[in-house]
Amino acid sequence: MSKIIAVTSGKGGTGKSSICAELGFSLAKQGHRTLIIELDFGLRCLDIMLGVKDDIVYDLGSVIEGKCDVYKATTQVKLASNLSIICAPEDPFSKVDAETIKNICTEMRKYYEYIIVDTSAGTNESVFDVVEQSDLILINTTPDPICVRDARTMSDEFYKRGNKKQRLIINKVDPDIFRADIIGDLDEIIDTVGVQLIGVIPSDPAIVISTGKGIPLPSNSNAFKAFDAISKRVKGEDVPLSFKVLLA
Ligand SMILES: Nc1ncnc2c1ncn2[C@@H]1O[C@H](COP(=O)(O)OP(=O)(O)O)[C@@H](O)[C@H]1O
Ligand SMILES: [Mg+2]
Repeated sequence: MSKIIAVTSGKGGTGKSSICAELGFSLAKQGHRTLIIELDFGLRCLDIMLGVKDDIVYDLGSVIEGKCDVYKATTQVKLASNLSIICAPEDPFSKVDAETIKNICTEMRKYYEYIIVDTSAGTNESVFDVVEQSDLILINTTPDPICVRDARTMSDEFYKRGNKKQRLIINKVDPDIFRADIIGDLDEIIDTVGVQLIGVIPSDPAIVISTGKGIPLPSNSNAFKAFDAISKRVKGEDVPLSFKVLLA
């Protein structure tokens, strides 16, 4: 049984692509065949984050243009034997229709246990096309009240369109933000978005360094621990929330 996981958010820059990369590394390390599909057109970044910048020959754009099939557009990540990527087209004006996304997902379900889809932010139609095929939507927000409200708007729209399997990731959490009197606490974020929490990721420079270098997170980093827990919860394991430790 394969699972399609759409990673999305209201605002840009909340960490969608980083979450896709780190969740991908984490699931692959646990032995699961995992594919990341980058659908944030024109803003390709996962080739760098996964350390395959110089290995990309074909991408999603090549599939859309009929230059190759979806298998040829799939690149194996060198540092993670179970992880592959289909990169976004380099052309920022490329368009993909719902039918193409659906066909790619259906085909790749045969070969991968987890398909993680990196979407663009906001109410772009392609986001809804992906989300409609997903088994799980990971809505991602930072503690910034503007991001939190936008996450709520997106989540409400997904519910309206019938997708109820949503979970919330709160990213870039820094204890100082809660002392600044702009947002109460993590519970207030969860209540405002109205989606069950699946994980909290601390603000951690290890993410910037690892994604910049295209290597997995160091196993002693707080971010690694957060992704290890999130990936296990995605698999249905009961892992206690440990954000108090992560934020200490
Ligand atoms: N938990 C985190 N701590 C510190 N920096 C982060 C964290 N998550 C993401 N970032 C950084 O934030 C920036 C935006 O992240 P990115 O994953 O590209 O967001 P998006 O895909 O939502 O636009 C990147 O520079 C990334 O390294
Ligand atoms: Mg992105």
